Amino acid sequence: MKPDLSMTLGSVPLRSPIVAAAGTVGSVFEFADVTDWSVYGAAVAKSVSGDPWQGRPAPRVAPAGVGMLNGIGIQNPGIDAWVDSYVPRFRGLGVPVWGSAVGNTVDEFVRVASGMAAAGIDAIEINLSCPNLDGHLFALDPKRAAEVVAAIRGSVPVPLGAKLSPNSEDVVAVAGACAGAGADWVVLTNTVWGAGVDVTTRRPKLTGMIGGYSGPPLKPIALRCVLEVARAMPDLPIVGCGGVSSAEDVLEFVVAGASAVGVGTAHFADPRVGTRIIRTLSNRLRRMGVARLKDLVGTVEPW
Ligand SMILES: Cc1cc2nc3c(=O)[nH]c(=O)nc-3n(C[C@H](O)[C@H](O)[C@H](O)COP(=O)(O)O)c2cc1C
Repeated sequence: MKPDLSMTLGSVPLRSPIVAAAGTVGSVFEFADVTDWSVYGAAVAKSVSGDPWQGRPAPRVAPAGVGMLNGIGIQNPGIDAWVDSYVPRFRGLGVPVWGSAVGNTVDEFVRVASGMAAAGIDAIEINLSCPNLDGHLFALDPKRAAEVVAAIRGSVPVPLGAKLSPNSEDVVAVAGACAGAGADWVVLTNTVWGAGVDVTTRRPKLTGMIGGYSGPPLKPIALRCVLEVARAMPDLPIVGCGGVSSAEDVLEFVVAGASAVGVGTAHFADPRVGTRIIRTLSNRLRRMGVARLKDLVGTVEPW
């Protein structure tokens, strides 16, 4: 029998454990011709701010070993244009498209999330952890992170995820503060701060100098965050995210405590990676004799 891959993330049912990570599939509709969205539980559109943001000048992506550096700076059209021009294109894609709200101030976050909710978006990730906004990493501070979540929770009725940073000194404290402020789940994690230098030009590989590092090297770091948060708060739903490109990676995050798993950078190498992951995952579960993936959530055993 085909294993049941459906999951439950707080109050949100997911037909599949994989979620396309914000910013790695554009605003989702751009990938419709190359990606089979039916294998995903949800797809998160690129983060959106209150006013349009230009992003940083090129170069803003660079390879770094088996990972990738990006310093895009969240180029986006702003919430009003996003609602008018993007949201209508989400219909008919065959996947729930979630919004990702970002801002420089609490009020900006609220404005964006309210706009998304009014446009009928099913769920919203609060991007507290973009590494490319100078001085505004809300996720480093439990109090500032909770302030944003509480303000959004007070004005937006849709399910909310708080996207956190692996650079937090105490990710458990930040996750707890966000949950206490009304987040329905946490996303662990965004990219980790990283940099590269071109020795020929002697310039940093990104114009912003420091950017976000993602891909396979991020996996152990994100898994550490998932394990720590799941141990401290077993009832708080988690989306694990970082370096996932295979069914085995998905299983690792699920066993560690994740109820859904983000797939990001792997899309740049193969936009159909989701199809391969889900096919392999079904076969792997069959061989393991596991009928329902959700039975594996948080089943990690202590030594
Ligand atoms: C090019 C690029 C753009 C990204 N843009 C966003 C974004 O707009 N909002 C966000 O929350 N995360 C963004 N991320 C972070 C990813 O959603 C994901 O959390 C991170 O890359 C780790 O997962 P991965 O190793 O599978 O890529 C971006 C990542 C990359 C590589």
